[in-house]
Order: sequence, then structure tokens, then C-alpha cells
Amino acid sequence: MSVLHNLDRIEQEALLDITQKQTLEELDQVRVALIGKKGSLTQILRSMNTLTVEERPKVGKRANEVQRTIEGALAEKKEELAAKELEQRISQSALDITLPGRRQAHGARHVISQIVREIESIFIGLGYTVETGPYVETEYYNFTSLNAPQDHPSRSPRDTFYIEDLTESCDEKSAFSAHLVSDVLLRTQTSPVQMRVMEAQEPPIYMLSPGRVFRPDTPDANHLPQFTQIEGLVVDKGITFADLKGTLDHMTRALFGQDRKTRYRPHFFPFTEPSCEVDVSCGVCGGNGCRFCNHTGWLEILGAGMVDPNVLAYAKIDADVYSGFAFGIGAERVAALRYNLPDLRLLTTGDMRFLKQFS
Ligand code: DAH
Repeated sequence: MSVLHNLDRIEQEALLDITQKQTLEELDQVRVALIGKKGSLTQILRSMNTLTVEERPKVGKRANEVQRTIEGALAEKKEELAAKELEQRISQSALDITLPGRRQAHGARHVISQIVREIESIFIGLGYTVETGPYVETEYYNFTSLNAPQDHPSRSPRDTFYIEDLTESCDEKSAFSAHLVSDVLLRTQTSPVQMRVMEAQEPPIYMLSPGRVFRPDTPDANHLPQFTQIEGLVVDKGITFADLKGTLDHMTRALFGQDRKTRYRPHFFPFTEPSCEVDVSCGVCGGNGCRFCNHTGWLEILGAGMVDPNVLAYAKIDADVYSGFAFGIGAERVAALRYNLPDLRLLTTGDMRFLKQFS
């Protein structure tokens, strides 16, 4: 009987087909082709009424058998494939402890922060305190109280970033009258911290103040519009230029090495009198003169001087009782001299190939 034959064939092919399927999606296609609305087995079950009375029970019985077998095989395979797919998903998303881990990069201090800390620790060792001041300063602290005359070139907007501060003030005529004041600026030096500390503390003062300063310079090999200074100030009874020299010699040797010589050159700063610039002997040529030191044998590292009595007067400190010295060092300059940097801009680019050398 051809229908029974057909059923045998459908059963055989279906069982083979089902075992070979790899995904739930493929398996479902097999199910539709067999027992879906238009499936091959469904069609046989539907055409029962075309059979003779003798055929019907035999075919019906067999067709039910085949249907149950196929459904059983489908269910079994479905379970197997579902488990496999879950397994796969877990193994793809879960932590695979057999993989080598991704290395976590260690942070390190920037070379400028390292130098600032190093200078801090030299002076903390001498009993100095570490002070801070605001980046946004007033003209009074940045210039006037530091004895800078009104026409000093550093006050020009070409050398100082001014901040236009729209201050609302009241007067009798109008409740609100806004007017511009331009005595607010980004500090061009850490020296204003001298005045803030002298106002806040009684001598003896032995302080260091590192921090950022700002100047409208176009960045080039030797200039950055934002850089780092370290200010020092001593005010005490009987402080002389010998104290300044002894202290700064100690610092330069601690920073650059015991074999380095120093040289004190007369200079001018409004807030110190006398003033000097301090050079350290060139480490590349040992002081004989080379390209690095412009064939002078010396490298300039800082400005310093005895605190001008006018500055002490602004701070209401009696210059007949107290005297002091001050100095200012550029941290980027120390880095350049120490590491032979050809271009200060390297310090701000964030290029890890450069920065990693100092970590
Ligand atoms: N403020 C000076 C500058 O930015 C550096 C300096 C020079 C600071 C002499 C001092 C000093 O305290 O005494 O060029």
C-alpha cells in the first residue's frame, strides 16, 4: 500500500533529518515541513477521507505512530540544541580564566610634578612650609604690592591675561549699574603668594609655593603659555644675602648634583633689591662651553633677591626689624636642563612615548 510506504519513508527521512540539524532554527524548519499546516505528514492525515474503508484504520494507526515518533524526536533534539546554544552563549560571554589578562596600565607622576615634589622635599627638609595661592589674581597682588610700577611692561595685556569682571555695584542714582573692572587677571608668577602669606602670617616665614602661572606667549621650544613656578620666601630677623646664597647653593646641588657650580649674576626684579639671576654650570660640557649652554658654560635656572623694603611695607612688616630673601624657579626649565629637552612643548603633548621615560 503506497500510503503506508509513504509513511515509512517520511518517518525514516524525518528521523535522519532531525539528528543532523545543528540549530534550533533549522530544527523548526524540519518541524514545519513535516507537521506544519502544509507539512507532508499533515497532508497524509488530511487525505484520510480519500482512502477506502479497509485502508483507513491501518493508515490512521500508522500515521499516528509516525506523528508521535517524529514529535518525540523533535522534542528530544530541541532540548539538546537548546542546551548547546546556552552553553555557547555562556562560554562566549563569561570570563575565560585561561586567557592571559589585559595588563592594567600603571599611572605615574608627570615629570613636572616629580620636580615640584622633589624641590618641595628639599625645602621641607629645611623647615619650610608649602603654601598655595589663587590662579585668578588681582593686579594688586600680582603687581602693585610687589612694587611693580604702573608702567611696568609686564602689566601690558601683551604679557598678562586680563579677565574682564562684570561687577554689579549699587550707587544712590541707580540700584544696579554694571561696570567693567579689569584688575582681575591670571597670575603671571607665583610671587603674589609672597604677599598673601606675609599678610596672613607673622614672621619668621620660611615658605615655598609651587603652582601654575599664565602668560600670553605663543608656544615654542622655549615658551609655554602656561607653566609651573616654585616661589620661595624667607622673612626673619637678620637674614642676609649669605643666607640666600647658602640656601640656593644647597638647592641647586641637591637638584643637579654635588659637582655643579653656581654663579650669581646681578639682575633686576621690582620686588627684590638687590636682585640676581642664578646660573648652574653646564652638565653637558662641565662648564667648558657647548651648544647646550650656548658656549657659555652656564645655564640660567632662577631669579632671586633680597625682599625689597617697599614690599615689606605693603605687608606691614617692619623693615628695620626684619629682612628676607625670595626666589622663583621654573619647573619646566629645571626639567629641560636636567633631561636635555630640546622643546618644552614635549611636556604638554601627553605623548606616552616621551612621558614614560620619566615613570
Ligand atoms: N617672579 C619672577 C618671574 O616670574 C621670578 C622671581 C624672581 C621670583 C626673583 C622671585 C624673585 O621671588 O625674588 O620672572
